[in-house]
This record gives sequence, C-alpha cells and structure tokens, in this order.
Amino acid sequence: MKRVTVHTGVVIWAFWQAATASSSSHHPPAFLVEAYTSVSGKICDHEEQPQKPRILNESQLTAYRKDGFVLLKNVLHGDLADLMARAGYAIVDRASHFPQYFSVIENGLIFNGGNVNDSDDSGHDITQVFREVALYSDIPQIAAELMELDDETQNLRVIRDMFLAKPVNGSGCDWHVDDHGFWPESYLSEASQKSGKDQNGVNVWIALEDMPLEFFGSMALAAGSHREPWRFEAYQAIGQNRTIDGGHTKSAIVAKLEEKRKTGKVALGACEIGKIRPDLKERLDAKTVIFDIERGDMIFSTRTLFHKTLDPTEAGKRYYQSLGLTTLNRYSIRYTPGNAKLPKGWLAEWSAVADKNNPGKSLNEIVDGTKSHPGEYLWYPQVWPSLEKDLENRLNFVADTKLSQVKQQVQAEIVEIFVPKMVTTSTVQEENDSASSSS
Ligand SMILES: *[C@@H]1O[C@H](CO)[C@@H](O)[C@H](O)[C@H]1NC(C)=O
Ligand SMILES: *[C@@H]1O[C@H](CO)[C@@H](O)[C@H](O)[C@H]1NC(C)=O
Ligand SMILES: *[C@@H]1O[C@H](CO)[C@@H](O)[C@H](O)[C@H]1NC(C)=O
Ligand SMILES: *[C@@H]1O[C@H](CO)[C@@H](O)[C@H](O)[C@H]1NC(C)=O
Ligand SMILES: *[C@@H]1O[C@H](CO)[C@@H](O)[C@H](O)[C@H]1NC(C)=O
Repeated sequence: MKRVTVHTGVVIWAFWQAATASSSSHHPPAFLVEAYTSVSGKICDHEEQPQKPRILNESQLTAYRKDGFVLLKNVLHGDLADLMARAGYAIVDRASHFPQYFSVIENGLIFNGGNVNDSDDSGHDITQVFREVALYSDIPQIAAELMELDDETQNLRVIRDMFLAKPVNGSGCDWHVDDHGFWPESYLSEASQKSGKDQNGVNVWIALEDMPLEFFGSMALAAGSHREPWRFEAYQAIGQNRTIDGGHTKSAIVAKLEEKRKTGKVALGACEIGKIRPDLKERLDAKTVIFDIERGDMIFSTRTLFHKTLDPTEAGKRYYQSLGLTTLNRYSIRYTPGNAKLPKGWLAEWSAVADKNNPGKSLNEIVDGTKSHPGEYLWYPQVWPSLEKDLENRLNFVADTKLSQVKQQVQAEIVEIFVPKMVTTSTVQEENDSASSSS
C-alpha cells in the first residue's frame, strides 16, 4: 500500500482530500446503535424567532477575551449530539478517505452534505442534524456574544462548516491557525478594525465522542496565544502574514510549491512550526490547555488562536480501539461577521469557483449579489441577529442545483495546481523513506 507523504501543510491537505477517493469500512460502537431516533425533515419548528436573553455571563466573556477560548457543556438539547455522532459514522463509511491528519474531511454539512448520500438505510436524512446545530441552536447567539457583535449594525454568517474524522492511530497537525483552505477569509478583519474588538471569527469545535483527558484525542489550545507580541512571528512561521489580506494568485501558489519542492524551505506549511521555529513551538507548548471532553462539549475559540490536534496516547489508542472506534469525530463550524471578506486571489472555495468575482468580496456582498439570480445561491447563511429568510429552501436549492457541479470544478482546479507537484514530492520522499528505514 502506498503511503503518500505531504509536506506542505493544511492548504494542501484540505485540497488533497477533495481530490482523492478510496473507501474503508467502519462500524459504530454497539452502545450507539440504539441512539439514533427518527429524524425526517425538520426537527423543530423554526418560524418563531423571539429575542433571546444573553446566554453567557461576564466571567465567561472575560475568560474568552483573555484566553481566546471557552469550553461549554450542555449547549445542545435532547439527543442532538448523539444524532451527530451517528450521522458521523455514516459519513465515515461513505466519504472519500484521506491518508494524513484526518481520515475524512467533509465540508458543507449545512448543505446536507454535498456529495454525502444523506439517507440512511431507512431513508432518514442523516445530515439534517448538522443544520439543526449550526443554524438553529444557541450556538450562533453564543458566537455573537463572544465577538460582542452589535445587533443593530452587525450580523453573523456561517463561513464554513466541516465534519472531521481524526484517525485514532494517526498523527495530527502541530500548533497552527487555520489557513484559507480551512477558513476562507481574508486575514484582515474589517469588523475588528472598526470595533476594536476581536471579531475575527469564532470556531466552534464540537466533540462527537468522549475524549477523556488521560487518553487525549481532542484539541489542544495555546491559551492567550492570540495576544502574545510574538504571535505575528508565529503566524509567519506557518506561512501566514496576518497583517495583509493573504490571498495568492494561482501562479504564485504554483511557484511556491515548485520552490518548496526544490529547496524544501518555503514556509507554506501550516503544520510545520516545530521545524521552522522550534523556539516558538516551545512557547506555544508552555501555554497548552487540554480538557476532559465528553460528547457534545464545545470549544469556542477565536480564529487567531493557536491550536493543534491532540494525538491519543498509546493507552488511549488501546482504549478507543477497545470501544470499536477507528476515528475520533468532530464537527466544526466557523462563524464570522457578514462583512468578513474572502481573500483576494485563488481560492478552493465553492462560492469563489461558482463566481470568479467573489474573492475579495464580503459575505454580505456575495449573498446580496446573488439576489438577482434565479434561486439566490446562499453560500453563507445569516444566523444572527435573525435567520436568513427562506433558509431551508435556499440551502436545498444550492445543494440540488449547484453543489455537485461546483465541487467537480473545485476538484479539477486542485488537481491542476497541486497534484503533479505532490506526486513528485511524495515519490521522492518515499524513495528516501524506504532507503533510510526498513520498518
Ligand atoms: C458564569 O457561568 C459559569 C457557567 O455556567 C459558571 O460556572 C460561573 O459561576 C458563572 N459566573 C458568574 C460570575 O455568574
Ligand atoms: C444512499 O444510501 C442508502 C443506504 O446505503 C441506499 O439505499 C441508497 O440507494 C443511496 N442513494 C444513493 C443516491 O446513492
Ligand atoms: C491506522 O489504522 C488503520 C485501520 O484502522 C490502518 O489502515 C492504517 O494503516 C493505520 N495507520 C497507522 C499509521 O498505523
Ligand atoms: C507582512 O506583510 C507586510 C506588507 O507586505 C510587510 O510589510 C511585512 O514585513 C510582512 N511581515 C513579515 C513578518 O514578513
Ligand atoms: C532525499 O534525500 C537526499 C539525500 O539525503 C536529499 O538531498 C533530498 O533533499 C531528499 N529529498 C526529499 C524530498 O526529502
């Protein structure tokens, strides 16, 4: 079996997973088989949108400002967390697999999974639960409170949602801040500049399994790293100059990949801070915070906070495998103010591929700009202070009429830009690996 080694980090692996396809089998642990109750169509009625009282108290907001994250338990009602876990097993079963960092990355569950077959054996719509959580739960309100958004002048949109399956026995990405492959937003936050507050965006990381502290497997955070004076050096070390927009033209990306291949030196790798700046990795290590995680727990963190996947310990691998788990699944939702912009330049983003004029525009502009089109392509639904009008129909419309074509286009562009370079790099690396190691 060929092992493909990819050295160029998050930008690449987000792209690579879209361009690869193989399958493997996965069985949910027995204790969950009964947990999946019937979900058909809407779980609740969402017509009513009364003004909600504040959910977080002042000490939680203060902690978020200081540390850049807050852990919340019991945000979801009923069995939503179990339903997401169950849907996750089906996605792992059916989705294409990716050999490094994650087994499965599935974007756009709010569009009912894109290319995920969204019915289970009994015809239940397995991905509706992700809409329920991302759009209709208390989560958007909490994200707005953390960013201290003004409900009269600002709004909140989903810029990306993704299901991630981390292999129990694999190794994850080191300290990083998500790049445009995972968070397709300009590094410059107009909302933050105007308000003087941290309105860069909030990532909501939701555990779909218990991940006990002693066994690891969840996410680690570097508390307060978003405020350290050395953070810009750390961003730079992972190829992110966060004082500029950050977008690249297609030819600039190709040139960087080529240079990386020849010299091994370009800082394009979101996961390589340990190689490039071991001193900063040490500083981040010193700020590590990890949690005892139960299914349904959520970590809300600011976009600019360093975080990393926490590989299970050896005992943890045995523990998770004893439960029948081969992956530790999570669902991640990224919310930004509506005036957040896509970066300029080339972007493997559905809305950017659907319309080449979208890079550099704000999410509000992109959504407003489609209003004259039949059906109004709703790539970035507003979730606060009020829900986007006719939300379900418009998301379904994107899924039914646009998504498969756009995903194919994205894949073709990724293959064009990345695959020849990656094959070359990985082939050479494999030769080196096999020359230097016989295990
Ligand atoms: C804020 O809420 C948290 C979580 O419910 C609670 O533990 C804490 O005591 C509250 N703090 C204050 C000052 O009310
Ligand atoms: C979706 O999956 C179900 C259950 O595996 C199967 O019965 C159905 O034919 C699939 N539908 C499509 C369109 O692949
Ligand atoms: C991890 O386990 C899967 C099957 O569960 C196997 O295919 C894969 O080779 C393993 N990877 C490593 C790095 O051991
Ligand atoms: C980031 O980009 C700005 C603008 O081009 C430049 O002035 C600055 O030196 C860059 N920072 C680093 C650390 O390269
Ligand atoms: C493979 O090993 C040779 C000799 O050590 C080295 O010069 C070359 O850069 C390596 N190539 C890669 C892609 O690691």
